[in-house]
Amino acid sequence: MIRKLLATTFALALVGAFAFAQPVIDGAIGDGEYANTLEHDSGAVLYWTVDGDTLHMGYTMAASGWSGVGWLTEQTNRKAGGDILMFAMVDGEAVAYDAYQAGARGEPDLDENEGGSNSLSAFAAMHEGDVWTVEFTRPLATGQETDVDIVPGEEVLFMLAHGNTMDIGRAHDRSTQGGAFYIEGFVF
Ligand code: HEM
Repeated sequence: MIRKLLATTFALALVGAFAFAQPVIDGAIGDGEYANTLEHDSGAVLYWTVDGDTLHMGYTMAASGWSGVGWLTEQTNRKAGGDILMFAMVDGEAVAYDAYQAGARGEPDLDENEGGSNSLSAFAAMHEGDVWTVEFTRPLATGQETDVDIVPGEEVLFMLAHGNTMDIGRAHDRSTQGGAFYIEGFVF
């Protein structure tokens, strides 16, 4: 009986160790690497783990051009108030852009042009066969006005978008045509 209990405890400890293992930000997402997964109707898959005061997040998304995600706490006018992250291949290298969506439509502004800075502490992104695999790490709260703090357990409006070229100055297709999506009631 004691042996059985010990075995059960060991098995639970192993499950715990896997459940809380920190994701490796290397541009490849393994089975069970993240605590949470969401498969979106568009085919994109989101992965995330909140670890203390840090968010680790990944996604896969089909796109011939740039791809990105965003979130806002309260919708006032379309995508206004969104924290935006975009990823593009530039000269064969993946580049991450941290931006803020001040206007209801149109181009987000790069944080660095609005008094903020890129808040990702790590990222890795692969674009192969027109499919992105992106992973990044960010503090939940950055203290910057150009970011939207993440409060685990509280609902946000999450956004996905992708372009048809790697130029982040060129918009995604309209949301009615599959270039951008909202996920309501998303909880980090
Ligand atoms: C990760 C990056 C981005 C995300 C998550 C995103 C998300 C969205 C969403 C959800 C909408 C729909 C708004 C609504 O109908 O309520 C939208 C609209 C729009 N976005 Fe973006 N966007 C991103 C990047 C960009 C960029 C880089 C541009 C321009 C260079 C752009 C230009 C536009 C325009 C013009 C609209 C209005 C078009 C429409 O009615 O669908 N967006 N975006």
